[in-house]
Amino acid sequence: MAEIKPKILITHKIPDRGIAMLRKKKYDIELNSTDGKLSKSKLISMAQGKDAILTLLSDTIDTDFFNECPEVKMISNYAVGFNNIDIDEATSRGIYVTNTPRTLDETTSDFVFALLLSISRRIVEADKFMRSGKYKGWGPLDFLGMDVYNSTLGIVGMGSIGKEVALKGYHGFNMKIIYSDKSVMPDSIGIKARQVSLQTLLKESDFVTLNIPLKPGTYHLIGETELNMMKRTAYLINTSRGAVVDEKALYKVLKENRIAGAAIDVYEEEPKFVPGLEKLDNIIMTPHIASASFKTRQLMSCKAAQNIVDWFEGRIPEGLVNKTVLNKKPLPL
Ligand code: GLV
Ligand code: GLV
Repeated sequence: MAEIKPKILITHKIPDRGIAMLRKKKYDIELNSTDGKLSKSKLISMAQGKDAILTLLSDTIDTDFFNECPEVKMISNYAVGFNNIDIDEATSRGIYVTNTPRTLDETTSDFVFALLLSISRRIVEADKFMRSGKYKGWGPLDFLGMDVYNSTLGIVGMGSIGKEVALKGYHGFNMKIIYSDKSVMPDSIGIKARQVSLQTLLKESDFVTLNIPLKPGTYHLIGETELNMMKRTAYLINTSRGAVVDEKALYKVLKENRIAGAAIDVYEEEPKFVPGLEKLDNIIMTPHIASASFKTRQLMSCKAAQNIVDWFEGRIPEGLVNKTVLNKKPLPL
């Protein structure tokens, strides 16, 4: 009798190592190689009949999806964040959901500093200036920015990425570190850091960096009121999820120069963003690339694949997000 092979959908091209791991297992793999965000109907039609799917953060997995694709029993998200998946619904249906923890903390925190330095020292603006042929010679008043060293860094969310940001700020730039995260005690960070309320953080920081997941309690955590609490000379850095910030409020506050600037890698409705942002000089916008290093994206590929292999072979995947699913439905085998 022919062996029944597990059917797997990989919803987009990802770095090759994880795909090779899955191919070695001789699974029946469908790999979608079209670019850009998949429409809901396309995603559903490709996922139908699959046992497991490897998804991106741009794939929306909601009740409609679960209703239309009842055979899918395991979802391996190629990301640390998993706000694109309705976790409660998955758990109630006995579906396992995994992410890729401990793959991108260093790479993402490097990028926080790339944005922070670029916005405060006006690097993107200066680059455009050079290319446009406007440079007529050195000027004592040209492109003045704000110093990073010795400034106050406010970290919203002291998880594994937040901690890396804290270490880099403290050791690299002698920054004073404050953070808002009730679940993390200052003595667990390894450097001098002060735990404060979000309000205090917004009022005291020269740089505010958002490093929290998107969930119901963090949606629009930073709105107009919060942005107005920031110093006029302060900058906002967002590499978490766009909807943590009210993007329309951010546009307004930047346009009125009520803060010095913002550098953002994530948007509320990717790939869209609030029209007008692209016209402002006090913002840097990047296309969700904070984890985009060759090494990290391969590591994420391997972790996402390993989660699938572990699940099929009856082991608890390292990246299991909805641990209570174990009470709902046993692992295969
Ligand atoms: C990227 O945004 C991720 O969540 O991994
Ligand atoms: C700047 O280039 C300086 O020499 O001060």
